[in-house]
Amino acid sequence: MNLFLRKPIRSDAAKEVEGHQFKRHLGSFQLTAIGIGAIIGAGIFVITGKAASDYAGPAIIISFILAAIVCLFTGLCYAELSSLIPISGGSYTYSYVAMGEFPAWLMGWAVTAQCLISASTVAVGWSGYFKSILNDFGLSLPDSLSSSPIIYEAARGLEWSGSLINFPAIFLVGLVGILISIGIQAAARFNHAMVFIKLATILVFIAIGAFYIKPSNWSPFIPENTGIFGQFGISGIFRASGLVFFAYLGFDTVSTLAQEAIKPQRDLPRGILGSITISAIAYIATALVLTGMVSYTALGVPDPMAVALNSIGPHVFWLSFAIKLAILAGLSSVVLVQLLGQTRIFYAISKDGLLPSRFSSIHRATKSPLFSCVVTTLLAMLAAGLFPINVLGQLVSIMTLFIFTIVCLGVWILRKTHPEYKRPFRAPFVPLVPILGIVTCVGQMCFLPLSTWIQFILWMLLGLLTYFLYGYRHSKLRQ
Ligand code: ALA
Repeated sequence: MNLFLRKPIRSDAAKEVEGHQFKRHLGSFQLTAIGIGAIIGAGIFVITGKAASDYAGPAIIISFILAAIVCLFTGLCYAELSSLIPISGGSYTYSYVAMGEFPAWLMGWAVTAQCLISASTVAVGWSGYFKSILNDFGLSLPDSLSSSPIIYEAARGLEWSGSLINFPAIFLVGLVGILISIGIQAAARFNHAMVFIKLATILVFIAIGAFYIKPSNWSPFIPENTGIFGQFGISGIFRASGLVFFAYLGFDTVSTLAQEAIKPQRDLPRGILGSITISAIAYIATALVLTGMVSYTALGVPDPMAVALNSIGPHVFWLSFAIKLAILAGLSSVVLVQLLGQTRIFYAISKDGLLPSRFSSIHRATKSPLFSCVVTTLLAMLAAGLFPINVLGQLVSIMTLFIFTIVCLGVWILRKTHPEYKRPFRAPFVPLVPILGIVTCVGQMCFLPLSTWIQFILWMLLGLLTYFLYGYRHSKLRQ
């Protein structure tokens, strides 16, 4: 009963690369753009507001810096593994090679939650901006059909809100689900356009908002702790950092494109580290302007940037409207990338026999893994329809921090077990960098609320059960 059977690294890599004949056409610039396309989304446009109003106040800026540092350590580890194991499946496959089947399954299970829930989180963010646009034109959706039936407040925990369903969020996930099911040829071009729109939106917001900053809004910079752990003060900065960590997710997508990089050794680290750095600068500047324009107490809304712009006065109505439209477009692209990513994970796990083969069967007409697309979409619709953004965001953060911890561990283990393999990119200062990655990830996990931990543990237990009921007995490697 060996739960730690490892995938042989070389034969698999060769087979995969031969099988696909990938064209190496992505340079540093394209990879950085893809990274930014997957990164910038609900984290900055929505979650920043809630994290500032509930946990950190203007010190949300420090939270962003802390989260960026964690991502840089992990980004270096991703860069090494993606150049060493340039095959599909991303972090799931890295763990299969480094640690064996059971850890890999848990990893795949966590990545599944991460992709599904981040798509739902962004969809709930989309719903907030969508309602805000309707309101601008005097239209409104009944709250019971456009907000989450479940809510979470740090002091009271999870509660029913009285609402029925978040319909706009479900609608968006459904729409994107249909798109990924029928297959999208122009995904890369679409992504480039979205990157441009998103960066332009942030630049316009910063350029205009900077003129309306009232420095009094930054005082106190670190609001005093309320007596509850994680509500303002130093613990609040760390808790908010765990939450806005969500804003950086997506750089790992770059690592999955290893086979398509012109020079993986040079381009992957540039793509990963470049997209983290550019996003971090954009986030810190946006958070500075946002908390400078209005008091952090007013930002706990689904559309914080709109609130800040509206504070300027009615004459900026069209600007606020244009920015909201751009945000809607940008958020849809993040949902698209996350749902697509998830179908690839199901595909890789199913190819290994740990999930039924239906998950990897490609539909003849659509040329997409249709069954995976449908399951992915339905699950994400369920989460988007029921849960509020802070619950989903925290859950994504804990899943990701877990995944990043294992990835850092993987680099360290493989350096010990397979020092002979040629690593086109080597993370510097190993084992210091992976250890710092692990310590900062676990540290951030500790600051997430108990309810998030319980949800995480329940999800992993469900994964455990699924593995022993199905994966263990059907694993191809084991057979
Ligand atoms: N980083 C992505 C976002 O903020 C997931 O939407």
